[in-house]
Amino acid sequence: MNEPVMRPIERLRAERSSIKWRRYAPDVLPLFVAEMDFDLPQAVTDAVARALAAGDTGYLDGPGALAPAFADFAKRSWGWQVDPARVHLATDVTVGIVESLRLLLPPAGGRVVLTPPVYAPFFEMVGEAHAEVVEVPLREASGWGLDLEGIERAFAAGADALVLCNPQNPTGRCHSRQTLESLARLAARHDVPILSDEVHAPLAHPGAGFTPFAPLAEAVGARSVTVTSASKAWNLAALKCAWVVAADERTNAELRRLPEEAAARTSLLGLHASIAALDSIPWRDAVLRRIVANVELLASELAEHVPEARLVRPDAGYLVWLDLRATGLGEDPAQLLREEGRVAFNSGLTFGTGGAGFVRVNVACAPSTIVEAVGRIARVVDARRAAVRRGERREAVAS
Ligand SMILES: Cc1ncc(COP(=O)(O)O)c(C=O)c1O
Repeated sequence: MNEPVMRPIERLRAERSSIKWRRYAPDVLPLFVAEMDFDLPQAVTDAVARALAAGDTGYLDGPGALAPAFADFAKRSWGWQVDPARVHLATDVTVGIVESLRLLLPPAGGRVVLTPPVYAPFFEMVGEAHAEVVEVPLREASGWGLDLEGIERAFAAGADALVLCNPQNPTGRCHSRQTLESLARLAARHDVPILSDEVHAPLAHPGAGFTPFAPLAEAVGARSVTVTSASKAWNLAALKCAWVVAADERTNAELRRLPEEAAARTSLLGLHASIAALDSIPWRDAVLRRIVANVELLASELAEHVPEARLVRPDAGYLVWLDLRATGLGEDPAQLLREEGRVAFNSGLTFGTGGAGFVRVNVACAPSTIVEAVGRIARVVDARRAAVRRGERREAVAS
């Protein structure tokens, strides 16, 4: 398979009813929320259709065939040996993180380290677990890497957990093995559990070197859980099936205390779809080729039409962190671009500290959508520039 199937944008708008296609007016080009514009792998639609035809639409009480399917995928992809007995179900990644936090944090809640700019709902999840956020921002100057010294200070000051985003959303960074090894050692030394959200990992770009956190944690005696799903890499968010993997036996004993209902709240259709997805590697590879080409297209279009924009090239996934601080569009370019340019990106501000002046661009779409989006950015930036020049001329005449 060379290209993922992409329907024309008018058809997507007519046939899809998710946030991406319904939140804003039809003249707003949507490159926000993490959904892909590609058709699903045939094996996934077949698996769901088979289950529907058989009336296989009841409840789940455990991961069943999904656990060995993920173990096989993890071994083939990253050499990570997953014990299927350590795989537990959750409705989605978000619920998996909240439920894991509830089990691993002290009863009064405690403090959870987040590393912004980071996936915005993490802030809410910590609140849902009745805990407080401790921010240790990424270091922009070192390529948006983790601030290990800041994390160590937070651990020494009594933090109770850290939620890691690996690969990081919105910067698309795969944290390096060396950094993750250091984090694992810090976690072991201070006995702070690490919850690693690895939902974007199956879309690591060729040569980017994604490292799963769990084996590193287990090697040094740190506690850790990995939360993941097929919801991003195979675009299955609506099917509500994720899994939580304990890195070590101590954490697995905690995860066995997950409410029995956690499995029943997970979709059986999602489970069938996820098993089929984990086996749909040619589709994933075709999507990756399109994403990598789209990142390059975005970079070249920006270089030509909005040269002040600076793009952070992602190591994984289809979300691109775009620095618009030099364009004069202010702290929240996403709002201006939506209102004046009729193009929607995620606002950098929603990702927390470090997000002002940035937008997050979703490139899981047709190349023509990217060309059109950059054209719309350029029109807004040019209009602003012209307005500033007119203002300067008026000031010069008046003085
Ligand atoms: C880092 C990260 N975690 C979790 C999610 C949401 O996953 P789910 O829909 O399975 O809760 C997303 C969605 O974009 C994400 O980027």
